[in-house]
Amino acid sequence: MKTIVIAGGSGFLGQVLENYFTKIGYTVKILTRYPKKEYDVYWDANTLGKWTIVLEDSEALINLTGKSVDCRYTDKNKKEIYDSRINSTQILGKAIQLCEQPPKVWMNASTATIYRYSLDKKMTEINGEIGDDFSMNIAKSWEKEFNQFDTHKTRKIILRTSIVLGKNGGAFIPLKTLAKLGLGGNQGRGNQKVSFIHEKDFVRAVEFILNRPNLNGIFNVTVPNPTNNMILMKTIRKKIGMPFGLSHPKWLLKIGAKIIKTETELVLKSRNVIPERLLQNGFSFKHPTIETTISDLLN
Ligand SMILES: NC(=O)c1ccc[n+]([C@@H]2O[C@H](COP(=O)([O-])OP(=O)(O)OC[C@H]3O[C@@H](n4cnc5c(N)ncnc54)[C@H](OP(=O)(O)O)[C@@H]3O)[C@@H](O)[C@H]2O)c1
Repeated sequence: MKTIVIAGGSGFLGQVLENYFTKIGYTVKILTRYPKKEYDVYWDANTLGKWTIVLEDSEALINLTGKSVDCRYTDKNKKEIYDSRINSTQILGKAIQLCEQPPKVWMNASTATIYRYSLDKKMTEINGEIGDDFSMNIAKSWEKEFNQFDTHKTRKIILRTSIVLGKNGGAFIPLKTLAKLGLGGNQGRGNQKVSFIHEKDFVRAVEFILNRPNLNGIFNVTVPNPTNNMILMKTIRKKIGMPFGLSHPKWLLKIGAKIIKTETELVLKSRNVIPERLLQNGFSFKHPTIETTISDLLN
């Protein structure tokens, strides 16, 4: 049986991948600090241990480990956001190097947030401009740690994924809740670009890359045409039948973010990211627009 190992796979994206790959016949093993299910394997995301055995002869290792960035950026949280990503990447790299039959491919999460705030310049893998703030520097360190490993038998892929919209997790749930409460207007000016991807297309993109042994390196995993915050919120309101939605100017968002313990960056940053390499290699999206994405998720 073909095995896929997902480190940090107990969360939103890991569960989406596990469901899909299990349905099409793979055995999916999850590296987690809190094993609960049959194929969960204990690791501490930090040191080598018995867990390394599961990597032997696997089809793929997908690393999604990382403390959620949906929190206040206190020093303690910042350290945990950094350490959880860098340490897990480092220990997985070492574990691969110790394997006799290492995974055929190692995909490591990164983020489309690595590119700077942009209203007009489209950020591709080749031409995108990498920025310099807390989140962008985390992404840079994450990728640097990954890139330092020379795994000659294991193909390496960086997934610069945008906001994934899904039924059971991620950003869509709080946005839908806001809209239902009549609070789903623009966040900030509303003109900030929103790069997003439907959870099904995220999984399809991972499978697409998995099945093409010639592909290596960085992939932007996001729809071809970003929307903007105003259209995103308007579409959600329309699809749930809410005729109005209170907008949130920046100052109000700042207060709200403190109350619900998050950062305004998550909604105010303009993300204008293009999946050039997926498109060049022939990937086609089932849900390329915000209309079809939201309709499908509400179905
Ligand atoms: N969701 C998105 O829209 C999106 C977009 C771009 C990039 N990403 C990146 O993709 C990855 C997965 O995203 P997700 O939404 O699935 O995240 P998630 O639901 O928060 O899951 C992340 C997993 O990481 C592990 N983890 C959390 N804190 C940890 C810590 N301090 N030390 C070690 N492990 C820890 C947890 O596994 P255990 O508790 O079971 O050990 C958790 O299940 C993340 O790195 C995220 O930054 C996500």
